[in-house]
Amino acid sequence: MMFPDFADRVAAAVAPAVVGQTETLRSMLLAIAVRGHVLLEGPPGVAKTLLANSLARALSLQFARIQFTPDMLPSDLTGTLTLRGGELVFQPGPVFTNLLLADEINRTPPKTQAALLEAMQEAQVSVEGKPRPLGDPFCVFATQNPIEYEGTYPLPEAQLDRFAIRAVVDYPSAEEEAQIVTQAARGVAVSGLEAVVAVADGAEIAAVRGEVDATRLSPEVANYIVALVRRTRELPSVALGASPRAAVHLTALSRAQACLSGRDFVTPDDVVGMAKPVLAHRLILSPEASLERYGPEDAVEAALGSVAVPR
Ligand SMILES: Nc1ncnc2c1ncn2[C@@H]1O[C@H](COP(=O)(O)OP(=O)(O)OP(=O)(O)O)[C@@H](O)[C@H]1O
Ligand SMILES: [Mg+2]
Repeated sequence: MMFPDFADRVAAAVAPAVVGQTETLRSMLLAIAVRGHVLLEGPPGVAKTLLANSLARALSLQFARIQFTPDMLPSDLTGTLTLRGGELVFQPGPVFTNLLLADEINRTPPKTQAALLEAMQEAQVSVEGKPRPLGDPFCVFATQNPIEYEGTYPLPEAQLDRFAIRAVVDYPSAEEEAQIVTQAARGVAVSGLEAVVAVADGAEIAAVRGEVDATRLSPEVANYIVALVRRTRELPSVALGASPRAAVHLTALSRAQACLSGRDFVTPDDVVGMAKPVLAHRLILSPEASLERYGPEDAVEAALGSVAVPR
């Protein structure tokens, strides 16, 4: 098993720049291992950008960040054809990278969101009708403003469904925060990034992906995943349950989780562990349920509690 060692090495490489945030990093690595994308949720200033940037350095990957704004056009993301010396030349947009940090995706109107979502789903973008392949790997880390925020365009559920995993980025502990403020002083300039060295590359990522894909899934565990996903559609508290795509994502991430634990087969516990981060963000609660203090995570919990775990 190479994934555990790979993940340890990357964590050690990122540590000089980013204090803590190990769970978020873990989610990012799991997503990369299944060719998936991450929805990052959390307050400002908790090192989301720093972490994504550090990870790109550790993996020797290209990194780009896009701040989504209300006046942004799809071509600001994908690129444009410009006339140069009488010839049309394609100017690739920021989406042509490996790790793309898409900040505040719900601040931009649906047309531009759709361009990003096409990129995520198809690993290509169409510019002037011509499809152009994106980088490999291509992984999007997207942050969202709280939905109630004024001037936001909430992502439709069909688009949230394209994110393999949601990572909740929390505030650091008191000890971690003390460590953050005593890091090398550089005013308020972004610090630490230079301390991150490359410890892996694209070829190794491809090998990890191969290992994850080869992780065995017994019929019993596969049936368990199906039953769990289908149960989310039957819960009275849920208006829109998880899709077959969600089932595919849960299967892939359970494999990655198994592999990261050093196993070449998936256990029911792998599935249980990934259920909330993979399913919760896709569920729409019924109006009655959302009035109470009941969230999508509670609905996943209810599904977990009502489907027999194979032993
Ligand atoms: N866990 C951490 N380790 C090291 N530095 C941190 C950490 N959390 C915050 N910082 C400091 O806070 C700064 C801001 O972090 P960063 O820009 O990555 O936050 P962000 O989550 O992307 O914020 P925003 O949502 O506003 O974009 C960093 O440059 C660093 O100085
Ligand atoms: Mg940021």
